Parts: sequence; C-alpha cells; structure tokens
Amino acid sequence: MIYLKTDEEIELLRENNLLVSRTLAEVGRRIVPGVTTKELDKIAEDFIRSHGAVPAFLGYEGYPASLCISVNEEVVHGIPSSKRVLREGDIVSVDCGTFMKGFVGDSAYTFAVGEVAQEVRQLMDVTKEALYKGTAQAKAGNRVGDISVAVQEYAESFGYGVVRELEGHGLGRKMHEDPGVPNYGARGRGPLLKEGMVICIEPMITMGGRSVVFERDGWTVRTRDRKPAAHYEFAVAIRKNGPDVLTDFSIIEQELNK
Ligand code: MF3
Ligand code: CO
Repeated sequence: MIYLKTDEEIELLRENNLLVSRTLAEVGRRIVPGVTTKELDKIAEDFIRSHGAVPAFLGYEGYPASLCISVNEEVVHGIPSSKRVLREGDIVSVDCGTFMKGFVGDSAYTFAVGEVAQEVRQLMDVTKEALYKGTAQAKAGNRVGDISVAVQEYAESFGYGVVRELEGHGLGRKMHEDPGVPNYGARGRGPLLKEGMVICIEPMITMGGRSVVFERDGWTVRTRDRKPAAHYEFAVAIRKNGPDVLTDFSIIEQELNK
C-alpha cells in the first residue's frame, strides 16, 4: 500500500530529514582517527533528542543503537561499538533516522577518515553521483524502474557492483513503506510514481563484486570479497515540479569544508 502525502505531511517529513542532515553534519565533523563508532552514536542520540525527536532506528526490530555505522567492507547496518576505532584512510557510512511529529527522517552519507586512497574516493563520489542520477528520475509519470536503472547504469559504468539484497523504500509515518526502490532494474518497469509519494533512494555500491554476507551479529552486512562499499541516502518527495529532495547534503558538506 502506497500512502500519498499532503503538502503539510511533506513539510513534516522535511523537518525530520533536515534534522537527520544536521545530525549527520554533527557526526561528520567528529569523524577523525581515534574516535570510536560508539562515541559517534552517542553524539547523534544526544543531538536528536535535544531537538525534540527520537532516534528512529533505536529499538527498530530490536536494533540496539541510534545510527548504523558501516566501515570499509561493511555495506550497511554496522552496529556502533566502543571497540571499533576509526583509522586514517577508512571510509564510514553513517545512516541516521529520526522520528518526530508523527513522521520519520532517514538519510545516509559516507565519510572519509582523514585522507583516503584515490580509488576509494572515486567509489564515494560515484555512489553519491549515482544517487543524484536516480533522484533526477523521481518524477510523476516515471516508474520506480527508471530510478533503479539510472543508479545501476551509472555505477556499473565504472565497473562497480550494485548490491541487490537491500533497497530503498517509501517513507512516511513508518520508516519502511511501499514501494521498494531497488538500485537495479529496467526502464519503464515497477510501480508508477505519483505526486505526493515520498521515497528513500539509497544506492549501496561496491568496489569489487556485488555479493554480500550477513554477519552473525544479526545486522551487519559486508561485502563477500571484503572490498570497500559506499552508501548514500536521500528522502525525496515527488511533486508537481519534479523531485523535491527533503535531505540536505549541503549542511553536511559545509561542515566538512570548514
Ligand atoms: N536506513 C535504513 C534503511 O533505510 C534503516 C536502518 S535499519 C535499523 O533501511 F534497523 F537500524 F533501523
Ligand atoms: Co532507508
């Protein structure tokens, strides 16, 4: 069941996703060699609560933290830990969710710890660009497959892998609503996009093969070949004038460029 949102509901979703963006900026500036992923989780939880929201991931299907923090070969759903110390050259995908005023925010960004290898930097840049290519297709009259294929074709043109096991989703009063938004597919296929739909587009792109392994902790997803992966996620509303991105990466990037 796909729930179409009113303009007022879209503004509440925007408030949530802006808070997620600001939380990611707050976390991003603390991503330096020596910090633990647990410390980053605490910063996010405090920031979210001090802004009148609650962390949407905490307790979701038993998930034990406010952020998912996935390092290098971890693709998504890495659990923050006081034992996980970030090192120069790591890449860190941080996924964050909020809940306030009856709606959910959900976005992700991949950060570099200090200087990273040029080929790893390219993986990050291409994954973010794949998200932008997909977002440009998020308009009424298109189908979900138009988004999927835009992400897939761009990422694969660099020889990268597109993870198949996880996908984007509708966003609203619940974190995961219909439709599913895969990162691979075919033009003109899948559910029709309509004005008032809000979806999360979230490419998970690997430097090597696309197969992943689900770790025994019940959450962490990593690449089978242990090559690095990147993950960026936008919440996007489909409006009369085209895609309306509810997430704001410029808040994060301004902080990183300080
Ligand atoms: N952002 C993730 C997604 O889009 C959700 C995190 S999983 C959780 O599916 F269980 F930690 F919430
Ligand atoms: Co999501």
